[in-house]
Amino acid sequence: MNVAAESIIDTAVDANEKALQSNLLSPRFYTTDFDAVNRISVESWRSQWDEMMKEYEGDNNHDHFQRDAAFAGELEAAIPTWSPELRQELLDFFVSSLTSEFSGCILYNEIRKNIDNPDLKQLMTYMARDESRHAGFINMSLKDFNLGIDLGNLKRTKAYTYFAPKHIMYATYLSEKIGYARYITIYRQLERHPERRFHPIFRWFERWCNDEFRHGESFALIMRANPGLLSGLNVWQIRFFLLAVYATMYVRDHRRPLLHEAMGLDSTAYDMEVFRITNIITQQVFPIALDIDHPAFMKHLEKLVVIAQAYEAAKATKGLWGRLQQAWHGARAVGVFGRLYFLPVKSQALLDNPRLRPTW
Ligand SMILES: [Fe+2]
Ligand SMILES: [Fe+2]
Repeated sequence: MNVAAESIIDTAVDANEKALQSNLLSPRFYTTDFDAVNRISVESWRSQWDEMMKEYEGDNNHDHFQRDAAFAGELEAAIPTWSPELRQELLDFFVSSLTSEFSGCILYNEIRKNIDNPDLKQLMTYMARDESRHAGFINMSLKDFNLGIDLGNLKRTKAYTYFAPKHIMYATYLSEKIGYARYITIYRQLERHPERRFHPIFRWFERWCNDEFRHGESFALIMRANPGLLSGLNVWQIRFFLLAVYATMYVRDHRRPLLHEAMGLDSTAYDMEVFRITNIITQQVFPIALDIDHPAFMKHLEKLVVIAQAYEAAKATKGLWGRLQQAWHGARAVGVFGRLYFLPVKSQALLDNPRLRPTW
């Protein structure tokens, strides 16, 4: 199944509705306990923190998110090569990527406005700056098709999910780092196969994902400066977020097989490469990693993909029977997730110096 089968993005109304959607697989907007964020200290890693703030201040991507002279011509030449199904998957990719970029922008901006802790306030200012550029740049690519998202309206009307600050740390750290791994894997593939670059936006991914990498570094430092977040029962919560982020990505990517195929990638191999990179990076902060090579890991992820397809099909069935089917598939998904959760994980020693460089 691909996205074309379930929700066609044909008009700006469709694109805006898609961005507004709140379900298990769609990117969400978050809010948190600002007073608790205000009390977070990074003092024990002061020198690394100050060094990182200098990098943000240097703003090496300040002129990156502008189109160059070649962009329009490349796009014009590429459009006729897209099948209608590929076009839909690409638009779906743009809408969901824009929604998650903008989600970061809103969260960081709200934290900035609601705290006076100077370290965190400065960090949130820089990160909101970056995410707003990212969201704006993707929106330009939707506007090429008159499918621009009304970001002001999205901010006002999309549902917000409350997460405790520590859960924001785990989830946001992971989404920044997995975002880096996703973009760099695509960038490297298209660097090797420029003939597969079916949209010019992919040329921007390398410097773009260095921003995401740095955002992840900031959360890593905050967590390392507050080691209680990384031990005891919290490790069970880290395990939950690792699995939730990995599994959601896997299911979501397997709804867009043509997008990866057009790049010369296979969705499963692409996701495994992204997991592999993310697992290496997370040694800077998490005491455990999921065992992605455990044979049952892939088997259960495949099951989740099949269940998600059955769930989508059940949504098309009207009435009580359709609702019963949806409940049944929902329960099956929870069962499989539970089995994944209790698979053995790998323990790992944290890196002495948590700072990493984006060398993939
Ligand atoms: Fe971003
Ligand atoms: Fe980011």
